[in-house]
Amino acid sequence: MTIQIPGHLWQRLGELIAAQTGLHFSSDRLDDLKRGVESAGRELGLSRLAEAIEAFTQEPLDQDKLKVLAKHLTIGETYFFRDPKVFETLETKILPPLIHQRRQNERRLRIWSAGCCSGEEPYSIAILLHKLLPDIARWNITILATDINTRFLQKAEAGVFSKWSFRGPISEDLKKAYFKAIDENRFELLQAYKSLVTFEFLNLGEDSYPSLLTNTNAMDLILCRNVLMYFSPTQAAKVVKKLQRSLLEGGWLVTGTAETGSLFEPLLAVNYPGVAIFQKVTEPIREQKPVSKRIQAKPISFAPQPTKAAMVPRPNADELIKAARANANEGHFAAALELCDKALKLDKLNAGAHYLKGSILQEQNQLDDAVASLRRVLYLDREFVLAYFTLGMIMQQKGNMREQAKHFQNALLLLQKYTPNEVIPGSGMTAGRLADVIKSTIHVREVSETK
Ligand SMILES: C[S@@+](CC[C@H](N)C(=O)[O-])C[C@H]1O[C@@H](n2cnc3c(N)ncnc32)[C@H](O)[C@@H]1O
Repeated sequence: MTIQIPGHLWQRLGELIAAQTGLHFSSDRLDDLKRGVESAGRELGLSRLAEAIEAFTQEPLDQDKLKVLAKHLTIGETYFFRDPKVFETLETKILPPLIHQRRQNERRLRIWSAGCCSGEEPYSIAILLHKLLPDIARWNITILATDINTRFLQKAEAGVFSKWSFRGPISEDLKKAYFKAIDENRFELLQAYKSLVTFEFLNLGEDSYPSLLTNTNAMDLILCRNVLMYFSPTQAAKVVKKLQRSLLEGGWLVTGTAETGSLFEPLLAVNYPGVAIFQKVTEPIREQKPVSKRIQAKPISFAPQPTKAAMVPRPNADELIKAARANANEGHFAAALELCDKALKLDKLNAGAHYLKGSILQEQNQLDDAVASLRRVLYLDREFVLAYFTLGMIMQQKGNMREQAKHFQNALLLLQKYTPNEVIPGSGMTAGRLADVIKSTIHVREVSETK
């Protein structure tokens, strides 16, 4: 017997899902919504649709339920080197000048596949970078790959693909070079390429980016392809604004070819045939200068404006920390560290400055120095939850899982003192979201360890 669910309930559920994830179910996709909610309900042991709807219309939807819903409402269409023109343009036009510029100094590239699905897109990028960088081992490469669907992320982490994932233009030779055949229909990406990509849960409908904490800052290139087409225009516009802030000046956003138009107006559409690509040019492109230099060139102004240079007050520690954070967000890590040190000279007991310094050192892969800075934070303030979180992440990087667990447990305990929607100072993230990031980091780790 089918029980009719009143239309307004579907509408309410649709609005809630759109508000929390961006996903939009127009009237012609109502059947998809119904099917998804029904099977998400079954996963939670709710056999009746009415029970499922009740569970999923509680506001705000808690992260566990949201994750279950996302597994049943998202579309997982993807394959290696999807849209060959995109990869050709990246290989011949976008990445070579960037690589040339970076080779002169820091040998660093930061790329984010936002809505990475089961991993074919970020792994295609990893393969491409191996092709373009014969000395890749000497580079500091970040390929962050995020998705809202934890089932897709687990598949991505495993790195095992069926023939169906190769339906794009990937030659047999390429396949042989980069994959190990497990059997006739399953191919495992070789470890050298797998290990270039880091997979994380991230809901683009939330405010967890850009942030040093989610490693979503200072990106050179973001691929967010065939994701926003499922979003409501309002939510898609919010995502584009946040992605724009995640990019470095001059950085690139690639979307799906069907996703163009005024939505991307904060960015500059660049004309490469058959490719939807946008560049961040808030200032005319020129040699990038660290923010500190800009501050020095144009001293911070105070009211009333002093007339003599000698009267210009020196910036205080908080202003220096602010400038340091702005530099870090734009990828000027050396300038950011310099500003942190200046702030600490003025106020050596400033836990915030030690914390920022620790996070930047972590980003620079100077893990021991980062740990020393973060320990100083906790010496000054035992309740600095972000310091525990970052220490946990560093211990994970070092492979010290006992210490990782200890720091994460401390962070989770401290987070209980906050309400889930309270924003943790300095993170732009709510307590509930940070707890979720920690739990999913532990979870992804557990999944990959049991494989
Ligand atoms: C059609 S796939 C595109 C995969 C890949 N980018 C490509 O173009 O081949 C869309 C992906 O977006 C993800 N997605 C949808 N809503 C999302 C959200 N709010 N946050 C993060 N990922 C989301 C889905 O789970 C799915 O993996």
